[in-house]
Amino acid sequence: MRISIIGCGYVGLVTGACLAEAGHEVVCTDNDAAKIGVLNQGRIPIYEPHLDQLVDGNRKKEKLVFTDNASEAVRSSSAIFICVGTPPLENGDADLSAIDAVARVIATESASPKLVIEKSTVPVQTGQQLKQALAVYGRKAGVGFRIASNPEFLREGTAVEDFLHPDRIVVGVEDETTERELREIYGPILDGKFNCPVHNPSCPPHEQPNFVVTTINSAELIKHASNSFLALKISYANALADMCERLGANVEEVTRAMGLDPRIRPEFLRAGLGFGGFCLPKDIQAFIRLAERAGMDFALLKEAERINKQRIARFLEKTRNSLWVVKGKRVGMLGLAFKPNTDDIRFAPGIELIRRFLSEGAFVSAYDPAAMDKARAIFPEISYRQNAYEVAKGADALLIVTEWQEFRGLDWERIYDSMARPLVIDGRNLLDPAVMARLGFEYHSFGRPE
Ligand code: UDX
Repeated sequence: MRISIIGCGYVGLVTGACLAEAGHEVVCTDNDAAKIGVLNQGRIPIYEPHLDQLVDGNRKKEKLVFTDNASEAVRSSSAIFICVGTPPLENGDADLSAIDAVARVIATESASPKLVIEKSTVPVQTGQQLKQALAVYGRKAGVGFRIASNPEFLREGTAVEDFLHPDRIVVGVEDETTERELREIYGPILDGKFNCPVHNPSCPPHEQPNFVVTTINSAELIKHASNSFLALKISYANALADMCERLGANVEEVTRAMGLDPRIRPEFLRAGLGFGGFCLPKDIQAFIRLAERAGMDFALLKEAERINKQRIARFLEKTRNSLWVVKGKRVGMLGLAFKPNTDDIRFAPGIELIRRFLSEGAFVSAYDPAAMDKARAIFPEISYRQNAYEVAKGADALLIVTEWQEFRGLDWERIYDSMARPLVIDGRNLLDPAVMARLGFEYHSFGRPE
């Protein structure tokens, strides 16, 4: 099929590259001409494992094309995925202005009927508004549109794998033709007919992923409901960690045993600095606002959000308890990205920590394997180092902010010798407290006996 993707962010790029790999002819467009220029030079503007390989291979085969001409992209395809950003407004609502602008382009540029699929995370009932907008903006041309909602559940850092090996593909539709067309689009992924660049041991998949067909409203709600539930799980684990600290239990032992119950499952129960990134924090906020507008106080979600914001304060408190005076101290940060295997620092706890430490008069140095360029654009004044050892040298405290795999295997004896004060605050419970104590470190983590 000829497919166009509007918006070349994480979701758009991964969707475009994976659908091209699955055999479709894909045109990706973005109103950021500089980004399209970069992509056309064969460079990927984000750090996402395997994406470069997929983009490169499919560009060479001309199955994947990038253009800043949205009209051309719209006209040349029969199905259009909307993958533009829906960032939070001041009040927590999702900003849908980019979706509105895209609707205008699609409606005015289409010369033949199209299937318009919203993949951006949007509040429930956006589909209805989109349908109306397409009809109003395109009233002169008189072209018909069908719409669908197809929320994306990919995680940064494993986005390609998540797209090609999904647990479920959710499609919200209004008619059988649309359902059939979406089955055709996802056919190669459902049947395992693609080359997996990830070398996933379960590729080709033994079983088809669940193809879940719902109404458009339900599909839209599924995305917000899923992400908010994941946020709830993390906040639950974090509240539990605080309780474990007060009562002398170990949160890892507790969550491990809880997770063995198949009704609970072990994922998303890791305590520490809390959730960041561009999805969970904004989606839980948008869901709270959505509930308010529907006349409901979703206090459970508000509490999850409050617990999450408190994690930064808990981390600072632990640092302050040890350092006594923060002003003038040298703090070294290991990690900046909101999680490992990404260079994304949007709503990253590490960024908020830098802001707080700087405002308290500390000297901050940092190392992250992927996210330093992005952090430099926000905090040019801190000192960025080549590796973890450089950050540790002369530091009064070493702060573990992102659980990059390479931090696990560091030579901690060497670090101990090089620090001004061998203090480690581990915001991701990455290291073993017993080992750190044996090495002589003053070591603090979350919810574990010290
Ligand atoms: C999330 C959803 O998982 C994904 O389905 C959706 O499409 C987009 O939002 P992502 O933002 O890439 O994906 O990251 P995720 O792996 O979910 O982690 C979110 C945050 O929660 C990170 O900051 C991570 O460090 C934190 N987290 C995760 C915890 O603090 N504890 C956990 O147990 C799990």
